[in-house]
Amino acid sequence: MAAATAMAMAMLAALAILVLLPSARGLDRAEFPPGFLFGVATSAYQVEGAYLEDGKGLSNWDFFTHTNSRGIDDGRNGDVADDHYHRYMEDLEIIHSLGVNSYRFSISWARILPRGRLGGVNSAGIDFYDRLIAAVVQKGIEPFVTLHHFDLPHEMETRYGGWLGAGIREEFDYYADVCFKAFGDRVKFWATFNEPNLFTRLAYVLGKYPPARCSAPFGTCDSGNSHREPYVAAHNMLLSHAAAVHNYKKNYQATQGGSIGIVIAMKWYEPLTNTTEDILAARRALSFEVDWFLEPIFFGDYPREMHELLASNLPKFTSEEKSLLQKNKADFIGVNHYTTIYVKDCISSPCDLNTYEAYEGNALVLATGERDGVAIGKPTAFDGYYVVPEGMEQIVKYVNQRYTNTPVYVTENGYSQYSNNTMDELMNDGERVNYLQGYLTFLSSAIRKGANVRGYFVWSIIDNFEWTFGFTVRFGLYHVDYETQKRTPKMSAKWYRDFLMGSRPTDQVQTLRADS
Ligand code: BGC
Repeated sequence: MAAATAMAMAMLAALAILVLLPSARGLDRAEFPPGFLFGVATSAYQVEGAYLEDGKGLSNWDFFTHTNSRGIDDGRNGDVADDHYHRYMEDLEIIHSLGVNSYRFSISWARILPRGRLGGVNSAGIDFYDRLIAAVVQKGIEPFVTLHHFDLPHEMETRYGGWLGAGIREEFDYYADVCFKAFGDRVKFWATFNEPNLFTRLAYVLGKYPPARCSAPFGTCDSGNSHREPYVAAHNMLLSHAAAVHNYKKNYQATQGGSIGIVIAMKWYEPLTNTTEDILAARRALSFEVDWFLEPIFFGDYPREMHELLASNLPKFTSEEKSLLQKNKADFIGVNHYTTIYVKDCISSPCDLNTYEAYEGNALVLATGERDGVAIGKPTAFDGYYVVPEGMEQIVKYVNQRYTNTPVYVTENGYSQYSNNTMDELMNDGERVNYLQGYLTFLSSAIRKGANVRGYFVWSIIDNFEWTFGFTVRFGLYHVDYETQKRTPKMSAKWYRDFLMGSRPTDQVQTLRADS
């Protein structure tokens, strides 16, 4: 009798461990809610190539890479990239073979409107995305489409000073309208902007992305004002977002039945020490990164911390703009999450903001990957990105709690390798498998605890043009040989496929070698 009770207790305990610890039983797709989107992601400039082909206009990235090759680590550009423009059918085969039910990609604004609103619509550009979307849908895959993933017609820069000029808002609204009209019968997920927070920082604080504007101490550019311009650009992006959402909700949503949101780059921040100053600094870093965009969209104004520190450098919303923003909240929040870093307060004791880690400098915090010489997680090939899977659960919970439980899609998560690794290292990417498995485990834990998460996308399906890193790092589940454009599945592609197809891959990393 006693033995039977002990056995029953032991079984109950084992069951409790299995319920509480996803890692104890292996990751299982069935743990995710019904209808959960599992996908892969790309963006137009990073994969398409087909520079100026079929009537495409010059984009800001075309101009930047052609005139400033020193700004790209290997001096290269996206003229050809993965040649996805011509090989999209092959890429869709690959995507389909993984068993995903969604594909996230972006539209090149300059392919649709080569010179913006005044130049007219390029019908060949519409045709390309029409064919792409039709093929995606035909495979039973849900298209998840971003309108602005860092690229825009170069003419916007010359005519309006890019995102610094209020005139660009009408241009974006017009571009979004063309896309809703042309593709909205089949596209049910629209993201207005990809990472406007990261984009404005890199373009207008650090001057590393076009139009490469900045000022001391953040960088040395020909012109710019790192304390003010990022906030002006963001302001115009927020109002462009609101205008496009307003149009979609008023004129398309009822008939097309889709949803519209925005994608924000979100690190998780841990205080460097447990002092109140550093705890507040971690909170402030989140405000300057995440709430900068989401508070205006959900509550009509910028976070209090930003008003306090930025004073007159932070633009003001009129009362009509506030109500336009609030009336048109996002239907979902896209979370691009890769890493967690420590932050240290720079108000109580000044920091040297003259370093890359001063990325969050306007928030008067210093970001650093190390505490007492120990890294927060394993470093990756991407400067400042460490493997910290727990951060996934934290960031998703933060966003849900703060933004009224609005549905979250993890629109990007992925792991980078150096391109100059050996072929064997590139293909047998066990570290990427561990990364994805770890982050998904903490995502599933967040969901089990009640987080409202509806989808997850790996960045990226194929190696591609990694902005200022050029082709020196690789994020793909598939290796791309840029000489031949041959795509080859890495171990991680097989792992993702096995996970999605339902065979428990966690126990099988050894059998997944890319050459097996
Ligand atoms: C961007 C992608 C980029 C990825 C890896 C995100 O910031 O949306 O375009 O390739 O991170 O750096």
